[in-house]
Amino acid sequence: MALRLLLTLTLWAGRSSCRGREDLPAAPAQPRVHCQAFRYPLAVDCSWTLPPAADSTGPTSFIATYRLGVAAHGESQPCLQQKPEATSCSIPDIQMFSMVPYMLNVTAVHPGGISSSFVPFVPEHIIKPDPPEEVRLSPLPGQQLEVQWGPPKSWPFPEIFSLKYWIRYRRQGTSRFRQVGPIEATSFTLRAVRPRARYHIQVAAQDLTDYGELSDWSHPATVSVTLGK
Ligand SMILES: *[C@@H]1O[C@H](CO)[C@@H](O)[C@H](O)[C@H]1NC(C)=O
Repeated sequence: MALRLLLTLTLWAGRSSCRGREDLPAAPAQPRVHCQAFRYPLAVDCSWTLPPAADSTGPTSFIATYRLGVAAHGESQPCLQQKPEATSCSIPDIQMFSMVPYMLNVTAVHPGGISSSFVPFVPEHIIKPDPPEEVRLSPLPGQQLEVQWGPPKSWPFPEIFSLKYWIRYRRQGTSRFRQVGPIEATSFTLRAVRPRARYHIQVAAQDLTDYGELSDWSHPATVSVTLGK
């Protein structure tokens, strides 16, 4: 009971102190920015969110610019947005293996004020391909299972910037995945699969030269191994 009273008083006091500052424009919270290179080296794609503001009083638009290098006098380029309200932008024509990082400046423009976030990044370090696509499974004679897939369609130059792959599979009824990789091919044969078992198989991709991180796992592909095949 005493606790509840204390809580009520605290809330009430907090409210009145907020009310006291009402005439001051509240700067919007800083955008939380995330950049990823899933189509390296064509572009780096960035997106951001604003923490929900209790007293947001109108639309927020954003100005997104970038420059190469941290020097404040460096020349800024626009990070391309669909429209000023968009919460994402793209930096085209990435300079590969730059010795200096890119600096992205995302400024939220709100009726009540502006606030900026700065995000430094090196494109090679934020490579994360999309998951491999078209995972196909076909049982082969002799209790084998062939897994085939394609590179993510969003990865622009798979012949130049090769990917390597990881496969994980799980027999239905078991919880533990077995993992195979990395392999550079786009197919793999699982040997000694159990007849009449059902398998769930996923594939993930990573830049061949170990830049960045592993993609998410593809959606599970499922196959039943039939007896005698
Ligand atoms: C970031 O962008 C905003 C909006 O264009 C600009 O006013 C601000 O000066 C920029 N900050 C830096 C450090 O470049």
